Amino acid sequence: MKVWNCSSFRNSFGAKKMSRKNLSIRCVGIDLGTSTIKTSFGGKRFRLASIIGEPNPAGFVGVTQDTSWENNLIITIDKEEWYVGELARVQSVLKIPLAREGKVKGIKEAKIAVLSALGVLHSESNQDVKYVVGTGVPVATSNTEMQELSKAIVGRHKYVIKNDATGEVRKINIHIVASPVLPEPYGCYYYVLKSRGIKRAFDAVIIDIGFGTTDILSIHKGAIVRPASGSTPDAIDTVAEKIASFLEEQTGHIIKAESLAAVLEKGTKVTISGASYDIKPQLEKVARFVAESIIDTLDRLLRNLPPQASIKYYILTGGGTYILGKYLREALIHRRYTTREQILIPDDPVMANAIGFELVAKYFAEKKLSASSKS
Ligand SMILES: Nc1ncnc2c1ncn2[C@@H]1O[C@H](COP(=O)(O)OP(=O)(O)OP(=O)(O)O)[C@@H](O)[C@H]1O
Ligand SMILES: [Mg+2]
Repeated sequence: MKVWNCSSFRNSFGAKKMSRKNLSIRCVGIDLGTSTIKTSFGGKRFRLASIIGEPNPAGFVGVTQDTSWENNLIITIDKEEWYVGELARVQSVLKIPLAREGKVKGIKEAKIAVLSALGVLHSESNQDVKYVVGTGVPVATSNTEMQELSKAIVGRHKYVIKNDATGEVRKINIHIVASPVLPEPYGCYYYVLKSRGIKRAFDAVIIDIGFGTTDILSIHKGAIVRPASGSTPDAIDTVAEKIASFLEEQTGHIIKAESLAAVLEKGTKVTISGASYDIKPQLEKVARFVAESIIDTLDRLLRNLPPQASIKYYILTGGGTYILGKYLREALIHRRYTTREQILIPDDPVMANAIGFELVAKYFAEKKLSASSKS
């Protein structure tokens, strides 16, 4: 299985309508982020924390009220058992992050993540269903690693998943017929094209603000320009760490950046040992600083764009858009990169990549099917 080259989309963005035949192919989009794995399939969208861990059965069997597969997932694959996502985060002593330093940790871990996500979607009655899985990985992942991952995902897989809360077991036997693996922000680019009915590729820069990294992807004539793409560790955890140290100085209590990031999703009120603080002024100051720092990386990368490139849109995506989006937009305009009209934010920045990869998978299913029906 060759890694799909996105330049093949150049003149063919309009994926044909799904034919009757490929209804038996399920097209799924998966975005492997450093904090969460996002999955999109039809109307179903869900997130799993990007962690696996050693089983720790002495934990809480059945005492939780949340019985969702997403939050109680155990996978047994190649005779090894793993806690996945929230269950690993809460219960495992030994935890392995699925991505770090802007890269997927390893092929084995990424495969566990993908099969876990498919396991949540798959029910026993779907045994004969084939899958095409569009997968997004951090921008710093090399082409060779993407190829290896694609190879590892394609094929027949037999494994078991168990719901730790309910005890339900699913034996899974699936056939993944194709797996295009691409840099995460490409999903959002493709989603924007499709949702706006755009038929021809345009030059664009996608800034995907995540938890651990901000990924920047430059696209010229539909192809990724590698030298003008890259990532910076300036992201939501940078914001959270800076505010956490400020609060530690103020209160004398130890504050975990991860918990603060979760608080920032809801607002700017923080409670520490019963006392309430509003961190709005610090957040504004830190967010402005981090946004400027992201633009400095962008500046360096964009110098490697071919001179004939003409950026039509700057697309801001990733969950970090909720916190840093407005500061990045102001900085892009202030530093004269672009105008307000040329900055786009998709309607669901957290899921946009995964939704885009689902569309990529549909396009692929169509191509695969028409190729096999001709042969
Ligand atoms: N509605 C929201 N409001 C505020 N912040 C949010 C919201 N949704 C997500 N976030 C924050 O956005 C951050 C990044 O989320 P995202 O899921 O895009 O990261 P990721 O893709 O896992 O990370 P990376 O891109 O670094 O691999 C998280 O820290 C999360 O707390
Ligand atoms: Mg991401």
